[in-house]
Amino acid sequence: MNISIFGLGYVGSVSAACLARDGHRVIGVDTQTDKVEMVNRGLSPIVEPGLDELIRGAVSEGLLTATTSSIEAVLNSTMSLVCVGTPSQRDGSLDTKYVRQVCQEIGNGLRTKREFHIVVMRSTMLPGTMRQVVIPEIEKSSGKKAGKAFGICINPEFLRESTAIFDYDNPPKIVIGSSDVATAALVARLFEHLPAPLIKTSIEVAEAVKYTDNAWHAVKVDFANEIGTLCSAVGVDGQEVMDIFLQDRKLNVSPSYLRPGFAFGGSCLPKDVRALTYLARELGAHLPLLESILPSNEEHIRRSLDLIEDQGQRKIGIMGISFKAKTDDLRESPMLRVVEELHRRGYSLRIFDPTVSHSILTGANKAYLREHLPYIYEMLTDDHREVLKHAQTVVIGNRDEYYKELLRDAEPHHCILDLVGLGIPMGVAVSAAAD
Ligand SMILES: NC(=O)c1ccc[n+]([C@@H]2O[C@H](COP(=O)([O-])OP(=O)(O)OC[C@H]3O[C@@H](n4cnc5c(N)ncnc54)[C@H](O)[C@@H]3O)[C@@H](O)[C@H]2O)c1
Repeated sequence: MNISIFGLGYVGSVSAACLARDGHRVIGVDTQTDKVEMVNRGLSPIVEPGLDELIRGAVSEGLLTATTSSIEAVLNSTMSLVCVGTPSQRDGSLDTKYVRQVCQEIGNGLRTKREFHIVVMRSTMLPGTMRQVVIPEIEKSSGKKAGKAFGICINPEFLRESTAIFDYDNPPKIVIGSSDVATAALVARLFEHLPAPLIKTSIEVAEAVKYTDNAWHAVKVDFANEIGTLCSAVGVDGQEVMDIFLQDRKLNVSPSYLRPGFAFGGSCLPKDVRALTYLARELGAHLPLLESILPSNEEHIRRSLDLIEDQGQRKIGIMGISFKAKTDDLRESPMLRVVEELHRRGYSLRIFDPTVSHSILTGANKAYLREHLPYIYEMLTDDHREVLKHAQTVVIGNRDEYYKELLRDAEPHHCILDLVGLGIPMGVAVSAAAD
C-alpha cells in the first residue's frame, strides 16, 4: 500500500519505519525540515532503540521517503496516518491545534484528488474530537464528504517509548474505530499479521479506549507507589507485598471489579480502606489516591440518587438492597444509603430482595436494620409484583440475574434504572428490554 504518515515524532516515525519494513511504500510528512532531512538521510528523527537501523534499511530500499509537502503526500498515497501531537493546554484541556492544521492540509490535498482516500487518526484524542473537529475540518477544506470521497477512522497507538518497535509488533490489541466498514477492513489489513486481537468498534469508543487505558496505567503506578509508601512507613517490604499481590490473577490482576456499575459496600472494603487511610494519616503519609477511594464511592451513590430524582417520579421500587447479589449482608450496603436518602426526601418506596427478605424472617440482619433503618420493614415485600404495582421508577440495586426474569412482569409505564450493569437499557420499559 502507498501510505503517507503525518508527524514524524515518536508514534509517526516508528509507524513509518515498521510499515516500510512490512513492505509498504511510506511517505513521512513533518513541518520540521530537520526531521524530514534526517529521515531522507536514513536517520531516525527520535531516540528509540533499533529505529535507526529500520529507517536506514527502509530508505535504502526506497520504501521510505520524507517531505514537508502535505499535498504531495496525499496525492501519492491511498491512506494517510495522522500521528501529530495532542498536548495539554495550560488549563489541562486538549490542544487540538496540530490536529486541526493537519486536517486542513490533508483536506487541501483531497480537494485536487480524484481517487478515494483514507484518513486514519493515530493521535490520542478525546471522545467527540473525530466528529467535532477532524471530520468537519477535512470536509471543509476538501469540499468533500466523509464516507463518500474519503474514508475516516481512528486507530489509537499503544506503543511505549524505548520498547516502541517491539510494542508496535506485539500490541496488546488493535482497535479500529469507524462507521465505515470498508475503510475499517482496509486499515485492518495493515495489522492483520500482528499477534493481537483486532477490535472494530465505533469512533467514540475507540477514542475513549485510549484514555481509559492511560488513566488505568497512571492509577496502577500511583497505587503501587502509595502502597510502597505505606509499607515503608510501617516497616514492611512493599516490593514483597506487591509480588504477592501480583500473583493473584483471580481478584487482583484480572477483570474482577472492573465494570461500570454501582458503588461498593459490604463488610470489608469500606472499613478496610478507612482503616488503611487512617493509619496513613497517623503516620504522616499523604496518600491522595487511596484517600480518594471513599469520596469517589460516595460520589457514585450521590450520582445514583440524582439519576432517580431526574426521573421526576415519587413512587420508587427497588430490586436488590444487599451490597451484592445472593448475600444477606447489609453492612454498609450502598443501596441502603439510597433508601435512607430517598426516605428522607419523602419518596414512597417498595423494596424486593429475596435473600434479604428471607434473612429478615430468620433475623440475620434484624439488629442492623432496627438500629439504622427501622422504617424499612414497611417497605420490604416478598412479592416482586407488589413492587411493580407500586412503582413508577424501578431501580436495580445489585447484580442478581433473577431480576431480569422478574422484570418481564413490568409494564410500559415503568421506568427502569439499572444501576449495576445487568444489561437492561436505562429508562426503557423492561418488558421489551428483558426479552
Ligand atoms: N509518545 C508515545 O509514546 C505515544 C504513544 C501512543 C500515543 N501517542 C499519541 O500519539 C500522538 C503523537 O505523539 P508523539 O509523541 O509521536 O508526538 P511528537 O510531538 O513526538 O511528534 C509529533 C510530530 O508531529 C509533527 N507535526 C505537527 N503538526 C504537523 C503537521 N501539520 N503536519 C505534519 N507534521 C506535523 C511535529 O513536528 C512532530 O514532529 C499524540 O497524540 C500522543 O498522545 C504517543
